[in-house]
Amino acid sequence: MEGLSPSVDPHSELMPHRHRIQFPPADAKNLAQDEVSFNLIEGERTVRIRFHDYDQIYMRAGLYEQVFYDRLKCSSPKKVAELLKRTVEASDSNLSELRVLDLGAGNGMMGELMKAHGVARLIGVDIIPEARDACSRDRPGVYDEYYVADFTALKPRLSEEISGWSVDCLTSVAALGFGDIPPEAFLNALQFVSCGGWAAFNIKETFLDNSDESGFSRLIRELIFSEYLDLYHLERYRHRLSMEGTPLHYFAAVVQKTAEIPLDFLAERGIDTSALL
Ligand SMILES: C[S@@+](CC[C@H](N)C(=O)[O-])C[C@H]1O[C@@H](n2cnc3c(N)ncnc32)[C@H](O)[C@@H]1O
Repeated sequence: MEGLSPSVDPHSELMPHRHRIQFPPADAKNLAQDEVSFNLIEGERTVRIRFHDYDQIYMRAGLYEQVFYDRLKCSSPKKVAELLKRTVEASDSNLSELRVLDLGAGNGMMGELMKAHGVARLIGVDIIPEARDACSRDRPGVYDEYYVADFTALKPRLSEEISGWSVDCLTSVAALGFGDIPPEAFLNALQFVSCGGWAAFNIKETFLDNSDESGFSRLIRELIFSEYLDLYHLERYRHRLSMEGTPLHYFAAVVQKTAEIPLDFLAERGIDTSALL
């Protein structure tokens, strides 16, 4: 390589550190998806990390990608981004004009794809500061702004600031349910999307199953099939593998917001938010 001594690996600075992970631990079976954990061997010590210990995962560069993308073959950001692009373009709209709010942005996996698709504005939101820190470390400059906020209890000033971005697309990938983003937060995020705007997200397949009577499933079904949203695309696909190597299927949905969603949407349908998760 020009200008570099042959003994220097030009990529050494860029190569992510490979973590030593033990996968799966013996007692992994029969745990809820958010309870599953793996062992991380760091020098002399072994640290047990649950899949939902995002703060612990994001603090270690490359660990999130290694666990969920390299080992468990997560395909969701790519799938949801592609479906959004296809749907928007088929409706004679242009992805490059969209102003996107990415809810549960993490260290920017979805943001990176949306940026590559050339969206006009990209705003990230996550509930933990470690996500924003990891995003600045791993994918600096991907988002125009990145807020650390709890969307179930948005402060009026932040709400005003987010409104100022004139969002017309919401994305939320691998973040709805399972102790992650509660339905109220998703509903609140949808309120920022202008009418005629889009939302693209993925959900566990049972959330659309009538036999699943949990509040979260009911809400998701009511919402997707409500008069406030038009369903453009719904596709079952392999989200990722479980630790045992079995496929976990999710639905990817692309909807268009057709009308403002009333604030009492949940109450109107008799969905008790205190018992949603
Ligand atoms: C599995 S990660 C997905 C990250 C990213 N969307 C991706 O596809 O790689 C789920 C993210 O949702 C965030 N999250 C969980 N609850 C949240 C909430 N109530 N509001 C915003 N983000 C939340 C977590 O902190 C985590 O970064």
